[in-house]
Amino acid sequence: MASSRSGNAPSASLDSLAEDQYFSAHPTPVDLEKHVAQAQDFINHQLTAGRRVVLVTSGGTIAPLEKQMVRFIDNFSAGTRGARSAEHFLEAGYSVIFMHRQFSLQPFSCRYSHTTDCFLDYLVEGPNGSVVVRKDDSDKMLQVLKKYREVREKNMLLFLPFVTVNDYLHLLRAVGRAMQPLGTDGLLYLAAAVSDFFVPPSQMSEHKIQSTDHAKPSGATTTENEEKKGIPDYFTSPENITSNKQLTIFLDAVPKFLANLVHTWAPRCMIVSFKLETDPDLLLEKSKTALSRYQHDLVIGNLLTTRKWEVVFITPDGQEKWIRAPAHKEGETEDRSLDRSKLPDEPAVELESLVVPAVIELHTRHIQQHST
Ligand code: PMT
Repeated sequence: MASSRSGNAPSASLDSLAEDQYFSAHPTPVDLEKHVAQAQDFINHQLTAGRRVVLVTSGGTIAPLEKQMVRFIDNFSAGTRGARSAEHFLEAGYSVIFMHRQFSLQPFSCRYSHTTDCFLDYLVEGPNGSVVVRKDDSDKMLQVLKKYREVREKNMLLFLPFVTVNDYLHLLRAVGRAMQPLGTDGLLYLAAAVSDFFVPPSQMSEHKIQSTDHAKPSGATTTENEEKKGIPDYFTSPENITSNKQLTIFLDAVPKFLANLVHTWAPRCMIVSFKLETDPDLLLEKSKTALSRYQHDLVIGNLLTTRKWEVVFITPDGQEKWIRAPAHKEGETEDRSLDRSKLPDEPAVELESLVVPAVIELHTRHIQQHST
C-alpha cells in the first residue's frame, strides 16, 4: 500500500533536523518505554480484532520553570473535549488511546468528576453498612458504568498520561510511530492544549527560583560552580529578580511537530488538529493557515468562549463547515439570536456527539481514498 503523504513535506530535511535537535536535547520521560510498550500491545490487539483506532490527546500541558519543579506555567484546558469525544468514538466502535494530562477529565468518570457536586453527594448509606448510589442517580450511573466496563473488558480503551509539554512531545512521537501498522485505520484527534512557550532545559534553573536576591549579593555574577549546577545567570542576576521582587523569565517557542507527524511519524493515518483562538476575526484564517502549512486532513477551529457551542471544520477542499449544538431540546424554542448570557450553561445536546460522527464520516472517506 502506498503512503498517502510520506515524502510530500515541503521542507522535510529542515523538519527532520529540528526533530533530531529537539529530541536529543530534551530528556526522555522515565515512563516512556513502558507507555510505548502498552500502546504497541494495545494496537496489536486492535489489529487482530480489526478495529479502527483513534488517538485522542486531551487536557493542557505544563511548562516547568525549574528542573526540581516547584513552579510551572499551565493553561485552562480541563480535558472536557477530549474525554467526551473519546466516549463518542467508543460508542461508534473505535478503540481509543486516551493520551491525557494526568488528573484531567477522563471518559465516563468525567460525568462525576470536576463537577459542582462532590462524588460523595451521589452516595448514601445502604443496608448492613453498605454504600449505595442515591436513588435518583442510579439509573444514569448504571448506564455509564456498563459502558465503561464493556470497553475495558473488550480492551478498547487505553489511558496514557503526560504532564509537561516535553512528556507530551516524546509520547506523541512514539505513539504516532506505533500507529503506523494501522495504516489508514488510524486516526489522530489532537484536542490537547499544548504549550506554545517553555523554558528549555539548557536554560532552566536546577533549584527553586528564589524570590529575593539574598542568596547572592547584589551585583555578583554566576560562579563556575553554579553554572555546573545548571543555574543560569538570568535567573539569579539582579536584573531578573529586581529589588521590588519582580521576576523576568524568557520563554522560547515550543517547536511544532505536526509536519513530522503528518509526513513521517504516522503518514497514512488521518490527522485532525484543533485550533483555539480568542479573537473571532482570527479563527478562520489561522485554521486555514494551519491546514495548508501542515497538509493534514482536518482542522477543527474553536473559540475559547463558545467552544462548547460551536466548532468549524476546515478541510483541504477549502470548505468550511460550522457544527453547532442546539441550546434547547427538540420541540423547545430555539432562537440563536438570544443573548448568550440568557442561554443555559451547557447546550441541550453535547457538541461532541455531533462533532465525532462528522469526523468519522471524513475518516471513512480517508480510508476509501487512500486504501489500495
Ligand atoms: O479541554 P477543554 O477545556 O474542553 O478545551 C478544549 C480545547 C479548547 C483545548 C480544544 O478544543 C482545542 O482547541 N485544543 C487545541 C488547542 C491548541 O493547542 O491550539 P493551538 O492553536 O495552540 O495549536 C494548534 C495545534 O497545534 C494543536 O492541535 C496542538 O496539538 C498543536 N501544537 C501546538 C503547540 C505545539 N507546541 N505543538 C503542537 O503540535
